[in-house]
Amino acid sequence: MERMSEHSSTRIEGFYHRFAGLYDLFFDGIFRPGRRRAISNMNVDKECRILEVGAGTGLNFPLYPDGAKTLGVDLSLPMLREAKERIAKNPGLRNVGLGQMNALELGFADDSFDVVYAPYVVSVVPRPRDLVAEMARVCKPGGRIVLVNHFGSQNRIGSWVERKLTPVTHHVGFRLDLPVESILGLPDLVKIEDGRVNVFKLWRLIVFEKRPGYLPAPEPAMGEELETMTAS
Ligand SMILES: C[S@@+](CC[C@H](N)C(=O)[O-])C[C@H]1O[C@@H](n2cnc3c(N)ncnc32)[C@H](O)[C@@H]1O
Repeated sequence: MERMSEHSSTRIEGFYHRFAGLYDLFFDGIFRPGRRRAISNMNVDKECRILEVGAGTGLNFPLYPDGAKTLGVDLSLPMLREAKERIAKNPGLRNVGLGQMNALELGFADDSFDVVYAPYVVSVVPRPRDLVAEMARVCKPGGRIVLVNHFGSQNRIGSWVERKLTPVTHHVGFRLDLPVESILGLPDLVKIEDGRVNVFKLWRLIVFEKRPGYLPAPEPAMGEELETMTAS
């Protein structure tokens, strides 16, 4: 799989640093249907802990159900400042926490969250597969990893256009030609949904469930064992 160089990774960070104040103007409405559908399909209740990686300016926060315990992390401080302002202006978002963190090295213990969500982030980071693996690590067994992202087109014309445009889109913080296969087939992840969202259905909503770990049958207590032996 082709990897984005560390150089382009720095360039992408630079883009979000510089244009944090303008992000909502361009990327709120156009990506909102995907955000809405991803969150409505999470089926979360107030007890669920949600981690949003690459939370940016917090455009997803008002879409969570009231009282959802959400933590948003992002690499870019200017994007997080916008998110902080959104939370301050909206009393309904008081359950949302924020932190600066690299999504490729999340500072949480294994199995910490019920849902780990990455909206429009997979094709922004230099190592997409490592991102999804890291999301899976911090997700509880039985929990969900939710991605909304544009992946490389399967048809020849579409993929030709994407390959031509990707050197340009690198400058505005993402790539268009990431093959979906690059994030599939990770151990412990079962794909439970793969749908199309947003304008011309060019983005995908992919949901994985983290396989619950193997639970050995409990050893019978000594008393139970004796009872069984007497009964037979
Ligand atoms: C396209 S924006 C998506 C923002 C938001 N999720 C949304 O729905 O609009 C991508 C975000 O990912 C963040 N990002 C890029 N690389 C990251 C990394 N390695 N760790 C955490 N966040 C990262 C950027 O700073 C930016 O805020």
